[in-house]
Amino acid sequence: MKRIDILLTQSLIQDDLGLKDKNVIILDVLRATTTMTIALVNGAKEVIPTENIATAVRVAKGSKNSLLCGERNGKVVDGFNLGNSPLEYTPEVVKDKSLIFSTTNGTLAIIKSKFAKNCVLCSFVNISAIVDYVNSIDEDFTIICSGKLNDFCLEDAVCAGMLLSKLNAGRNLELRDSEIAALNLCNDLAMLLNVPSKEKILRLFHSSEHGKYLTSIGLEDDLEISSRLDSYPVIPIFRNGVVKFKEQFEGETSQKLNMKRVNIGVKREDGKKEKISES
Ligand code: MLT
Repeated sequence: MKRIDILLTQSLIQDDLGLKDKNVIILDVLRATTTMTIALVNGAKEVIPTENIATAVRVAKGSKNSLLCGERNGKVVDGFNLGNSPLEYTPEVVKDKSLIFSTTNGTLAIIKSKFAKNCVLCSFVNISAIVDYVNSIDEDFTIICSGKLNDFCLEDAVCAGMLLSKLNAGRNLELRDSEIAALNLCNDLAMLLNVPSKEKILRLFHSSEHGKYLTSIGLEDDLEISSRLDSYPVIPIFRNGVVKFKEQFEGETSQKLNMKRVNIGVKREDGKKEKISES
């Protein structure tokens, strides 16, 4: 791994091919990637990000056992089942459900990564698990800050700086201005004696534009749960249009492989000498 690039706003991604075959980390700490992670931990079957409300409604029509989820201006979308507060995604509500999401910034950044080689979702609640995952791959990565309406937002940049500082430990990665800026913001606003501090992160949320806005519409508790460092050490991966845990995708792959073996076995058993085709 030589480089970790940070895109401080997703508006820097001109088109979907911009991230083709790249390794990508998506950040939307207030609140999309935090909420999706907690929803999967609480037993949701999968998260299906969509680029807009109309698409979400269309996808929901075609799927059983699903919920429409998302926000505009921080509030639940009219006609949707759930908003974007992590506190709404309890086990009773989401267990085994497909969650079809549309949010202002986070889902757009995820959709822009559909041609990426690897795409993982990160926030403060799973940051160390993502660092371990990236270290295990040991290739260059691009960190994408979802931002706020294609503009810069403090909380995503600080989280990106914390990711970079953890990944740069023992390495001498090439740093551009964006990376140096994010590192300094993190050191200033989230570290205490060089240690990530939940208290400082919560203070950062209360001083950020979006944190103040969410508090003004009665969603202050979302800031507290989103500041709980490493409270959900899991790896949500976006692949083939859905977000699931790494293990779930691996489980499916080995299942498919087993099926393949069974099919080949069955074919052989009927003793026909024909060429066995890959099913
Ligand atoms: C987003 O994806 O735009 C944010 O998560 C918005 C929010 O939850 O308030």
